[in-house]
Amino acid sequence: MNPDLSGKRIVLGITGGIACYKAAELTRRLMDHGATITVVMTDAATQFVTPTTFQALSGNPVYTETLDARMANSMAHINLSRQADAIIIVPASADFIAKLSHGLADDLLSTLCLAKGNCPLIVVPAMNREMWAHPATQRNLQQLLQDNATVWGPGSGSQACGETGSGRMLEPHEIVNETIAFFQEKLLHGKRVLITAGPTAEPIDPVRMITNRSSGKMGYAMARAAREAGAQVILVSGPTALEAPYDVQRISVTTAKQMYDQVMQHAHEADIFISVAAVADWHVSNFQENKIKKTGNAGMDLKFAPNPDILASVAALDNGPWCVGFAAETENLLEYAESKRQRKNIPLLVGNLAQDVMDADSTTMVLFEENGHQQLPTLPKLAASRQLIKHIALKLSA
Ligand code: C5P
Repeated sequence: MNPDLSGKRIVLGITGGIACYKAAELTRRLMDHGATITVVMTDAATQFVTPTTFQALSGNPVYTETLDARMANSMAHINLSRQADAIIIVPASADFIAKLSHGLADDLLSTLCLAKGNCPLIVVPAMNREMWAHPATQRNLQQLLQDNATVWGPGSGSQACGETGSGRMLEPHEIVNETIAFFQEKLLHGKRVLITAGPTAEPIDPVRMITNRSSGKMGYAMARAAREAGAQVILVSGPTALEAPYDVQRISVTTAKQMYDQVMQHAHEADIFISVAAVADWHVSNFQENKIKKTGNAGMDLKFAPNPDILASVAALDNGPWCVGFAAETENLLEYAESKRQRKNIPLLVGNLAQDVMDADSTTMVLFEENGHQQLPTLPKLAASRQLIKHIALKLSA
């Protein structure tokens, strides 16, 4: 089991809307991460999915009535919120958002939200695009934000009603990621973090290119961990098959030169630059405009010219961001990584062995800094990224 939510007790409040069916999947996925789920449903929600579904999935009783004889004091609205680490309303209908914003309490779920005390309230809207865009809904939503509720989404796209626009509920996996992020310490709150990830690819002709074995997993995990820690993240990514982490601005590039241009454009606004990309050291200088034809058994001569060193260029900026580099070596890690840190003039360089980390799911990081080096335990890349983000936050606050 993945323990990201282990020990977390979550009340899932389900209101009436067709997106209810996705709340069933969400229940399972939150439990996969170790959360304990208690479901509270409005009357309208039970028209779409039955309480039995959620009882079977969560392994806990489902609550629908304000006065519930199954509780010794009959006060489900008090007991449930006192035991919870968060209440997530998913899907949150326009009607329920209106109710919350006015403090109405005419059923169990709305009463529970009013009686919740300090328990965080998270609202995940789902409704038709016109309902979402209506000034009344937007007004109600502003009120919820002022009252310290957290709102996730909505997304945009095709809707069950056949229309297309804003109002789609976030997908269950996005809500799971948001829930995990919600419980992470906000160590980089208000910071802007620029990250590079993946390989770059250098064209030989219009159909061929030279690239490397970087998958992008490490850089994407760093982007997710930074965002979980409360940072605003821009991810400049070479070609990968990975989905951009939720709420991270991804800029896709192909070549090292394109990556350089994008990084230099955004570096001045960043507080931290984390250079994870496996940038090609050279590009093909005799690039051919048309496809190179095979002629008999003749070979092909490629000529190479050096690419700009993006990390060193950012590190040399006046008032530039705090820089972190990554180095994958195949041998002499301690010697090569520290000399690289000094050459690029950066405060922190993360070294690892290329044969162990490229395209792998885990990593063993060695942190090189002015005062020496330290090895972190071998961890999945996301867990390692969270540790590294903690380390960076500590350095910045020192
Ligand atoms: O010199 P080397 O490629 O081993 O250095 C690794 C570090 O430098 C990484 O952080 C990588 O992202 C960065 N780098 C760069 N631009 C290059 C080459 C490497 O930003 N042209």
